[in-house]
Amino acid sequence: MTIQGKRIFLTGGAGFIGSTLAGRLLEDNEVVIYDSFERDALSAREFSHHKNLRRIRGDILDHAGIQSAMEGANIVVHLAAIAGVDTVIKSPTSTMRVNLLGTYNVLQAALGLTNCERVVTFSTSEVFGTYAYRVSEDDTVNTGAVGEARWTYAVSKLAGEHMSYAYFKEFALPTVIVRPFNVYGPGQVGEGAIHVFVQRSLSGQDLLIHGDGDQIRSWTYIDDMVDGILLVMGRPEAVGQSFNLGNPRGTVTVNGLAELILAVTGSSSKIAYVPRQAADVELRIPSIEKARTLLGFQPIVGLREGIERTVAWYRILRNNDR
Ligand SMILES: NC(=O)c1ccc[n+]([C@@H]2O[C@H](COP(=O)([O-])OP(=O)(O)OC[C@H]3O[C@@H](n4cnc5c(N)ncnc54)[C@H](O)[C@@H]3O)[C@@H](O)[C@H]2O)c1
Repeated sequence: MTIQGKRIFLTGGAGFIGSTLAGRLLEDNEVVIYDSFERDALSAREFSHHKNLRRIRGDILDHAGIQSAMEGANIVVHLAAIAGVDTVIKSPTSTMRVNLLGTYNVLQAALGLTNCERVVTFSTSEVFGTYAYRVSEDDTVNTGAVGEARWTYAVSKLAGEHMSYAYFKEFALPTVIVRPFNVYGPGQVGEGAIHVFVQRSLSGQDLLIHGDGDQIRSWTYIDDMVDGILLVMGRPEAVGQSFNLGNPRGTVTVNGLAELILAVTGSSSKIAYVPRQAADVELRIPSIEKARTLLGFQPIVGLREGIERTVAWYRILRNNDR
């Protein structure tokens, strides 16, 4: 899907997914990145000073700030969030504030735009809870007990989904909700097993697995994720819908993943098992039928190939740092 001649506003555009998306849009569009730069995958990108890119340091909790930064946007993609289980556990209050109130601020500001064609909000596959086999968009969402920090993130994102849909229903704001399933690849700056395992393998440290390593996930390569996002940004059928974006063919246990990364890196690191620190997701595999049939979404990068590309990128990064 090619998007051209638009002004595109990306909250969280300095992050892993946002900065990769910006790179795909910059040649043919004007891109405004609004980010607190708490995390920064953007500065290391070769396009970080592209003539079509504007970077604004700002907080999505600052309603007036977003409103003025968003002026003139045709497409809004709201990626800014407190994400990653470890960060969420450390600060559940900011998680609720940023993910819930921040999403409200973005939607409310988008409502004031004169030529708004699309507002994409980011939820998460975590909304499906601990056991999610081939879950589809209309399956029941599931969260655990209050007091279990992991679910703070899921609940904040789920409330964001309801809010996003409410703006479509009540005010005809052209919103779309995306639920990514475990994204990985070059440029990742946050948390995530592949990010951590590859870095530890390359520096000869043990790969720490929480629990027995029998947890199952489906891994989505970043370029496939960005292809899916471009489809929801551009295709008219996407408006008012939510989509699982993931790769069921990238499914593996955490043990299998660790072994694959050791094989690809040729590392002599060992696998070590440590107790689980928080509630965990046992099984999570998406059904992507809706995105496939409605939008033509088709992930193409297999897990081994994706890990090979990711390892190659981390190797270059490490050499540059020396
Ligand atoms: N990466 C995944 O596997 C995955 C899975 C499910 C959902 N998601 C969602 O996709 C989106 C993007 O994820 P990502 O992996 O690129 O995360 P990321 O952490 O790399 O990027 C998030 C960005 O938001 C910014 N940010 C945080 N708080 C902010 C605030 N108050 N104001 C302005 N900016 C702020 C950070 O600085 C960062 O650049 C997030 O909404 C995340 O919840 C990601």
